[in-house]
Amino acid sequence: MLRQPILLLARSQGVQRLVSTMPVSSSVVRSYVPGETTADAVAATSTLVEDGLRVSLDYLGEDTTDAALADATVAAYKELLADLAAKGLAPQAEVSVKLTAIGQSLPDNGHKVALENARDICRAARNAGTTVTLDMEDHTTTDSTLAILRELRKDFPETGAVLQAMLRRTEADCRALAYEGSRVRLCKGAYMEPERVAFQDRADIDKSYVRCLKVLLGGQGYPMIATHDPRMVKIASALASRFGRRPGTYEFQMLYGIRPEEQRRLAAAGESVRVYIPYGTEWYGYLMRRLAEKPSNLAFFARSLVSKK
Ligand code: FDA
Repeated sequence: MLRQPILLLARSQGVQRLVSTMPVSSSVVRSYVPGETTADAVAATSTLVEDGLRVSLDYLGEDTTDAALADATVAAYKELLADLAAKGLAPQAEVSVKLTAIGQSLPDNGHKVALENARDICRAARNAGTTVTLDMEDHTTTDSTLAILRELRKDFPETGAVLQAMLRRTEADCRALAYEGSRVRLCKGAYMEPERVAFQDRADIDKSYVRCLKVLLGGQGYPMIATHDPRMVKIASALASRFGRRPGTYEFQMLYGIRPEEQRRLAAAGESVRVYIPYGTEWYGYLMRRLAEKPSNLAFFARSLVSKK
C-alpha cells in the first residue's frame, strides 16, 4: 500500500517546498484544481452547471495557526458566495468549508473562532440562497467539528456534515445524524489515521462504507454519497431502490477532474450529482491526498515536477 507512505512524505517541509514551486497551471495540479481565483472557480461552476451538474466549492487552505489567514478565508468565501448569487448560480452551487482553514487549529480558542467564522459563512450562504457543508479532517478534529455542526444547525439547519467510513466511530455517527433534514456526505476518508481509530484495510473500509450507506439511506436525512468507486456507486443505487428513495432525496458527489464521464452518465440517468471544486493557491495538501489515492499518477506527477509544466 503506497497511500500511507505518500501521506507521510507529504508532511515533509522539503517536499512541500519542492512541490509548491509548481505553477497551478501545471497539468498535474490543473487536473484536480481549476484555478486560483474566484473567477476561475465561478467559470468552472458555470461549465458544470450547464452540463446538468451541481457543485460544492472549497476555497483551499487548512491547518492555519494565523487568525488573519482565517479571516482572509472567510472573506474569500463571502466574495465567492456574492459572485455565485450575482450570476444566478447559487441554487446549484454550495460551499464546502474546512474548519482548520478558519481557525479550528488556533492554539487558545480555536474551537470558538472556527464556530464564529463558520456562522459568518453560513449567514452569507443563506443570504446568497445556498448552503454550507463542513468538510471533515483528521480524527483529532471530529468531535470539535461535530460539536460546531450541532451549534450551527440551531440557526442554520441546512448545514451539511461529512463522515468518513474509515473511522471506527462513523457507523454510530451516521445513526446519530440520520434524522430529517440532516445533510450528510459519506466518504471513505482521505487522512492517515492510526489503527486504534480507523480501519486500515481497503476491504474493511468498503464494508464500513456499505454499513453506513444502509444507515443513511434507510434513515430520514439527505445522504450525499461521495465516492468514485464503481462498486460503491452500484451498491448505493441498489440500496436507494431498496429503501424506496427517489432521485433527488439523495445525491452522488465526486471530485472535480475525477471520473467526469461517470458524473455525466449518472446525471443523464436522472440522478442528482454534485462536483466538489477546490480552488485557490493552497492546493498542496489537497493534491497530495489525491496522489496518495491514485499512486499510478506518481510517474505523471514526477514528470510534471521536473518540467514544472
Ligand atoms: P477509491 O479510493 O477506492 O477509488 C475508487 C476509484 O476512483 C479508483 O479506482 C479510481 O478510478 C478513482 N479515483 C479515486 N481517487 C482518484 C484520484 N485521486 N485520481 C484519479 N482517480 C481516482 N475525505 C475526507 O477525509 N474528508 C472530506 O471532507 C472529504 N470530502 C470529499 C468530498 C467529495 C465530494 C468526495 C468525492 C470525496 C471527499 N473526500 C473527503 C475524499 C474521500 O474520503 C476519498 O479519499 C476519495 O473520494 C477516494 O475514495 P473513493 O471513494 O473514490 O474510492
